[in-house]
Amino acid sequence: MRPIEWTGRGARLIDQRLLPDREVWVDCDALEDFEIAIRDMLIRGAPAIGICAAYGLAAASLRGEDLDQAAARLAATRPTAVNLFWAIERMLKARGGDLVQEAIAIHEEDVAMCKAMGEHGADLFQGKQRLLTHCNAGALATGDYGTALGVIRSLARREQVEWVWVDETRPYWQGARLTAYELHQDKIPVRLICDNMAGHFMQRKQVDAVITGADRITAQGDVANKIGTSTLAVLCKEYGIPFYVAAPWSTVDMQMQSGWDIPIEERSAQEVTHFRGQAVAPEGIGVANPAFDVTFHPYITAIITERGVLRPPFAESIRIADAAQQTV
Ligand code: MRU
Repeated sequence: MRPIEWTGRGARLIDQRLLPDREVWVDCDALEDFEIAIRDMLIRGAPAIGICAAYGLAAASLRGEDLDQAAARLAATRPTAVNLFWAIERMLKARGGDLVQEAIAIHEEDVAMCKAMGEHGADLFQGKQRLLTHCNAGALATGDYGTALGVIRSLARREQVEWVWVDETRPYWQGARLTAYELHQDKIPVRLICDNMAGHFMQRKQVDAVITGADRITAQGDVANKIGTSTLAVLCKEYGIPFYVAAPWSTVDMQMQSGWDIPIEERSAQEVTHFRGQAVAPEGIGVANPAFDVTFHPYITAIITERGVLRPPFAESIRIADAAQQTV
C-alpha cells in the first residue's frame, strides 16, 4: 500500500485523517496543497513526509517556481522528523537536473530501504513473537512496506508472528486507526490496547519485544518518536524486554549529538480535547500536546537500519555505519 504517488504534475495521497472509515485520495498540485498535506497530517510519518516534500519541490520545479522559497515553506510545516529536511536538501542539491526523477528516486529508495530493514530486523528473532508497536511506522508512514511494520511484515512472512500488540496512540490514534488497519489488511493478528495497558502485559510476560519507528536519531543514538515511546522503553528496561527502533538512514541526524536538542512539535489542544469534532474533555481547561518524546540511547537494545543492525555503543556503531557505503 503506497500512501502517495506521483501523477505527472503533482502527487496524489491518501487522506490518513479519514482512515480506516474512508479511503479518500487527494491531489496536491500547488505548493500550498503540499504544505497543508504535511502540516494537517493528511500524510504523516517521517519518511512519508520527506517523500511528499520531494514531490512538492518536483511540482514547483515543473511550474518554474522559486525553489528556495518553496523549500523554506515546506521546511516550516513540521519540525521534528529530520527526513523532511533531508529530502528537501537532497532535492535542492539536484537542482538543474530532473527533479521529478530525483523525487521518484527518493520514494523508490525508501521502499527498498524498508524491505532491507525488514529482513535485517527479522533476523533478530527466533520462534514465534508477541511484538508491541506504538504509533504507525508502516506502509502509510513510508514509501511502502514500513519500518517497524516492515520488520513485522518480514517476520509474518516467516510465520513468526503470534500477534502484535498495537497501542492505540493517543491523541491522534495512529495505532488504532492506521497500524491496526494495515496489519488487519495483511491478515497479521492484532491485539489493540489502550496506551496505558502496555505495562500490564509486559509485567505478565506477554510481550517478547517492542519495536517502533523513529523521527530523528542523533549521532549518539537518542531517538525522537511518537509521544509515549520513551515510556515504553523505560518499562522494557525494567522488565528485561528488548526495545528495538527501525529507521532508514535518512532519519539519522549526524549533525546532532544529544536528544535534548531535538525540536519537539507541540500540536493543537483540540487534538487532545476532541475526537472527530466531539468534545471529550471540559471546555476551557489547560492542555499540553507534545507530538513526540525522546528515548535516550541507554534504553535502546538495537537500531535496525538498511545498513544493518546497530548495537551499543551507538556513538561508535552509528559513526561506522555513516561512513559505510549505502548497501541498497
Ligand atoms: O505525528 P506522526 O504520525 O507523523 O508521527 C509518526 C511517528 O512518530 C512514527 O513512528 C515515525 O515517523 C516513524 S514512521 C516510519
